[in-house]
Amino acid sequence: MAVWVNLFYISLSLCITRVVSQFQLQPVNVTVLKGSDAQMNATVPTGWQSMTWAVDDTPVLVFNPSGNGTASSNRYSASFCITDNTECVQFIIQNVTRNDKVVECSVLGIQGSQTARLDVQESGTVNIRGGDVAVERGQQVEFQCDTSAWYPEPDVGWTLNGAAVDSITYNTTSIADGDFYNSTSVLNFNAISNTTVECRATVAALNNPISSSVFLTVASGPEPPDWTVLIAVVVSIGGLALLVLLIVGIIFCCRRRKEKQSNYQNEMTRRVRTQSEINGQTVAGQEQGHVNTQYLSDSHSRWSQSEIDFSSSSIRKMPANYSANHGRQEISTVTGSNFTKHRHATIV
Ligand SMILES: *[C@@H]1O[C@H](CO)[C@@H](O)[C@H](O)[C@H]1NC(C)=O
Ligand SMILES: *[C@@H]1O[C@H](CO)[C@@H](O)[C@H](O)[C@H]1NC(C)=O
Ligand SMILES: *[C@@H]1O[C@H](CO)[C@@H](O)[C@H](O)[C@H]1NC(C)=O
Ligand SMILES: *[C@@H]1O[C@H](CO)[C@@H](O)[C@H](O)[C@H]1NC(C)=O
Ligand SMILES: *[C@@H]1O[C@H](CO)[C@@H](O)[C@H](O)[C@H]1NC(C)=O
Repeated sequence: MAVWVNLFYISLSLCITRVVSQFQLQPVNVTVLKGSDAQMNATVPTGWQSMTWAVDDTPVLVFNPSGNGTASSNRYSASFCITDNTECVQFIIQNVTRNDKVVECSVLGIQGSQTARLDVQESGTVNIRGGDVAVERGQQVEFQCDTSAWYPEPDVGWTLNGAAVDSITYNTTSIADGDFYNSTSVLNFNAISNTTVECRATVAALNNPISSSVFLTVASGPEPPDWTVLIAVVVSIGGLALLVLLIVGIIFCCRRRKEKQSNYQNEMTRRVRTQSEINGQTVAGQEQGHVNTQYLSDSHSRWSQSEIDFSSSSIRKMPANYSANHGRQEISTVTGSNFTKHRHATIV
């Protein structure tokens, strides 16, 4: 059942396509320049009796299968595309104007009509303001290109020595002036070498753009410095300096480590410093790398391990003589005749 329904729809749609394709007007949109000829072809099934062509709802030509046409003006004409073949008729409007907008072809005998749209465009003038220019090398130059009496808005572009310029380097503004468009395009660039500057404008109906060109003469001044060489030199010197610094640093580090490993006294000093860092202080004198000869190994007599190792316990125990007013403690003990041993501790 479904198969039959599908087949019915397929054959129906084929039928419709055939009817539509049997009477066609091509092209649907005709883009031409004002003053030129517009032509289109009507493809019709055999058996038609008479064909009427109308432009903007005014009948202008009647054509019959015997190849006989009657026109309201000699601007309009019709003929068979192929001699004696009634299935294709070519219609031509000479000297088109902007008033020619819609073409309609109605056929008696098959009772149908088709329309085509006319897009009549106009090319105007192009002119680079000021003519030829002479400047010093490196100077900023500006060119202005005026286009006038175009329809529709033209595409304006620039070329330098024949090469198209990127559209981000120029600005074009268009204004409607009655039935036309006028525009001004501004191009800026740095004068480097002698250049032919060309401005070109075009619309779809135009095969070749209309252009205007001027010559930019650049006075031969001193050559601009070659920055690439300078940059290369700077980069290589910088790289070399970095390498030397790295090597010196590595050697320095190695030597220091060796000294530390061989010196037990230094090892003790390191421990003291580690403790001091835990307490948030650096032992004065150690920064310069002096060996504290008065250092005595901590006997832990006053500070129990739990009191020093704050990190190991979440509950921090305060030293015995911690006072609430002073976060930082200073304990002094006389260890020799002239030296005083300081212990700094910051309690948080
Ligand atoms: C013809 O032009 C009309 C309007 O300008 C547009 O909508 C349509 O797509 C065009 N058709 C073809 C086949 O170019
Ligand atoms: C064109 O039609 C006219 C009148 O309708 C007729 O006199 C003339 O012979 C026809 N010409 C041709 C070539 O059929
Ligand atoms: C084209 O038409 C314009 C007016 O629409 C007329 O002035 C001009 O002479 C015509 N040109 C030709 C070649 O017929
Ligand atoms: C184009 O115009 C815009 C806004 O007026 C401006 O910012 C831009 O710099 C102009 N570009 C050029 C190449 O003149
Ligand atoms: C540009 O051309 C002029 C003569 O036409 C010449 O004297 C000048 O050296 C040229 N400038 C450059 C940069 O080539």
